[in-house]
Amino acid sequence: MIVRLPGVYPPQQDTSLLNDALLAHSLTPRTRVLDLCAGTGALSVAAAKAGAGHVVAVDIARRACLNARLNAVVAGKRIDVRRGDLTAAVQGELFDVVVSNPPYVPAWGDELPTTGTERAWDAGKDGRALLDRIALSCAEVLAPGGTLLLLQSALCGVQKTEAMLEECGLTVTVVARSLVPFGPVMRSRRAVLEQRGLIVAGQATEELVVFRATKSSPSTSTMG
Ligand SMILES: C[S@@+](CC[C@H](N)C(=O)[O-])C[C@H]1O[C@@H](n2cnc3c(N)ncnc32)[C@H](O)[C@@H]1O
Repeated sequence: MIVRLPGVYPPQQDTSLLNDALLAHSLTPRTRVLDLCAGTGALSVAAAKAGAGHVVAVDIARRACLNARLNAVVAGKRIDVRRGDLTAAVQGELFDVVVSNPPYVPAWGDELPTTGTERAWDAGKDGRALLDRIALSCAEVLAPGGTLLLLQSALCGVQKTEAMLEECGLTVTVVARSLVPFGPVMRSRRAVLEQRGLIVAGQATEELVVFRATKSSPSTSTMG
């Protein structure tokens, strides 16, 4: 059971798609998992329950951190919850699995909200404000052989994320796709998304995509 406090992002189809990708990994007491943009901590709890020995959850919102701590207690699992800005909260640490369902909804403007529920989904005009930062910084916190599992909407550019992750030296595969109906936020932004060419007239669904991006380990890297 996952408890959700008011104002915290409710786990939904995106959480569930990423959860399945996470559980497809073998998680052992030696596995170090980082849940970036943790919200209720649903993915952290899933990782801990599946056997990961060390789980760190990071969220910028105070209430989400409180919520993730609460869910750790409810689940009877140890989860190290930290309030912070993406990987800045774990500088110098390495993880075997980084899982992230960040804000990815194209917003009215580029300025990111610093309070309120919109902070859970608003991601600048192109929806990439957080995705780009995660793609650029995740390699620094991945252990050799470690894997990033990252979810986004295809509206924000699948190839862009793929290319950025590859530029950071990661091997990238799309491991899951799911077509979902627009929720209320997307429905309210249809006109502006159409104007920007991010959706076509009458579009009512978006594709969610999960990337698996793996850092080579010494045994898999080629000798130079
Ligand atoms: C789409 S919700 C995902 C929540 C949860 N992982 C899930 O799948 O149900 C995104 C979360 O990112 C958090 N967030 C937004 N900006 C952030 C940042 N710069 N650093 C860390 N977390 C951030 C929000 O507070 C929100 O809880």
